[in-house]
Amino acid sequence: MRIVFLGPPGAGKGTQAETISKEKKLPHISSGNLLRDAVESGTTTGIHARQYIDKGQLVPDQIVVDIIRDRILKNDCKNGFILDGFPRTLSQAKVLDEMLKKLGNKLDVVFYFVVSKESIVLRLSGRRICNTCGTNYHIKFVPPAVDGICDKCGGKLYQRADDKLETVQERIRVYHEQTEDLIAYYKKNGILKEIESETNIETITKNILDAIKGVSQNASCINLGVV
Ligand code: AP5
Ligand code: MG
Repeated sequence: MRIVFLGPPGAGKGTQAETISKEKKLPHISSGNLLRDAVESGTTTGIHARQYIDKGQLVPDQIVVDIIRDRILKNDCKNGFILDGFPRTLSQAKVLDEMLKKLGNKLDVVFYFVVSKESIVLRLSGRRICNTCGTNYHIKFVPPAVDGICDKCGGKLYQRADDKLETVQERIRVYHEQTEDLIAYYKKNGILKEIESETNIETITKNILDAIKGVSQNASCINLGVV
């Protein structure tokens, strides 16, 4: 199954993608994580991308598209994936459609995470990430057992540089300006499903899994030539 998680910064895309990826055995592909890996490795792409990430702006389409294309062509994506944070512009969405078409595939469902600006700011200001294994925490909603230390591996927790308030405001502005158009695009394609994301993490996971059940039934009907 080929799934996209669409929604504003801090909506919970990464948190849900982690769980759903394990549950459905689909690789979790986060454009943000791939870009941050490139920044960390100091590659030319990473150095270029950093200028945008630090300001809360979108990295140019071509850079992100190349990274995603390389990732999607890997063997573990043969049976599907969860794309988290990509596409983020209409142009990225169209390139993705073309890319999948060439592979004889298409997207099955786009989950659109609906959440208020107040929750976004609260979630991002309290987010902490393990510098060793990358596990996500929240100082209030998903606190570690010991302050500042990862429960899973004992690594130190840090705050993402683009989670400071001014950058968060800019990320929200950029989302409204450049990403929101995708809602209409996927609605028109008939594959958009809204996920009410104001509630707790477990309920959202359950709602996504329930929604996926309906989608996979359709997909297997198509595979069997039933429709
Ligand atoms: P990216 O890393 O994709 O960031 P984002 O989309 O801004 O989203 P976040 O990762 O901040 O939030 P999330 O929705 O994953 O929330 P999370 O689950 O962590 O992109 C970063 C940058 O990279 C961009 O600004 C851009 O520069 C560049 N970039 C990336 N993709 C690009 C693209 N396609 N094109 C161009 N540029 C691109 O949750 C947040 C916090 O809330 C956590 O602490 C979590 O524990 C907590 N939480 C989650 N769910 C709940 C809940 N239900 N209740 C309470 N707390 C919750
Ligand atoms: Mg994320």
